[in-house]
Amino acid sequence: MGQFEIVRTVADLRAQVAQYRRSGASVGLVPTMGALHDGHLTLVRSAKLDNARVIATIFVNPKQFGPTEDLSRYPRDEAADVAMLKEVGADLLFAPDLGEMYPEGFSTSVSVGGISQHLEGASRLQFFNGVATVVSKLLLQAVPDRAYFGEKDFQQLQVVRRMVRDLNIPVTIVAVPTIREADGLAMSSRNRYLSPAQRKMASALPQIMHDTVTELRGGSVAAPIIANAKGRLHKAGFDRVDYLELCDEATLQPIPAARASSRLFVAAYVGATRLIDNWQVI
Ligand code: PAF
Repeated sequence: MGQFEIVRTVADLRAQVAQYRRSGASVGLVPTMGALHDGHLTLVRSAKLDNARVIATIFVNPKQFGPTEDLSRYPRDEAADVAMLKEVGADLLFAPDLGEMYPEGFSTSVSVGGISQHLEGASRLQFFNGVATVVSKLLLQAVPDRAYFGEKDFQQLQVVRRMVRDLNIPVTIVAVPTIREADGLAMSSRNRYLSPAQRKMASALPQIMHDTVTELRGGSVAAPIIANAKGRLHKAGFDRVDYLELCDEATLQPIPAARASSRLFVAAYVGATRLIDNWQVI
């Protein structure tokens, strides 16, 4: 096993990948925006099982933040991230700056229709264009064998899969199940914004998702079950529910009752912090 290295330019990334390829190594890519937690480290661990070399990327992508979102206060701590990446055995970190990813004159946007328009796409208009643009760049910069995405961002995972198919990007997308805290809250870099009181309140979310999914499993009409769950979220202290919807996993369109391949999707605010989650129903 070689030394952990950090590269900041596409040229250096490609030189390193070419060296891996010369030695016959397979390559896994784990794209992140940093502020790493066990969810990200699980992606790296999964990548290590499948590939001889694992590259993590850290780039806080301004194109996927809306004008009122938290780009400037998004947590950044590269030293802590690097320590974690070394600990789990990543080989390389690609951490480009803004000018390297979006040089002067950059004018291209990758837009995935259909599945990107509902749920997160409805609440955060430019979000998936930003994600698709940066992920396509990262995949084409590194050209890995496999790239790893968490099911916590299920719609993002489906958008990336669609994009890779549509654009014939030669990479296998690997989905990794959501990693949860002991009380069931999905791990997220944004959880660190929560005060201790808000964190306690947030634990109602997985509980309500669990109960709602259990009720939906029988195939009953979803609307009253979901209305009741929304009421419980408000009662538990959630300030706003952007959506709580039962959708088909493939199309991400709402469905009236659970059927094979359904998922319950939620986005709700505790104070100013927006939490998202999704649970498989059947
Ligand atoms: O899930 C994330 O952290 C980001 O959306 C990603 C995939 C790294 C693209 O910036």
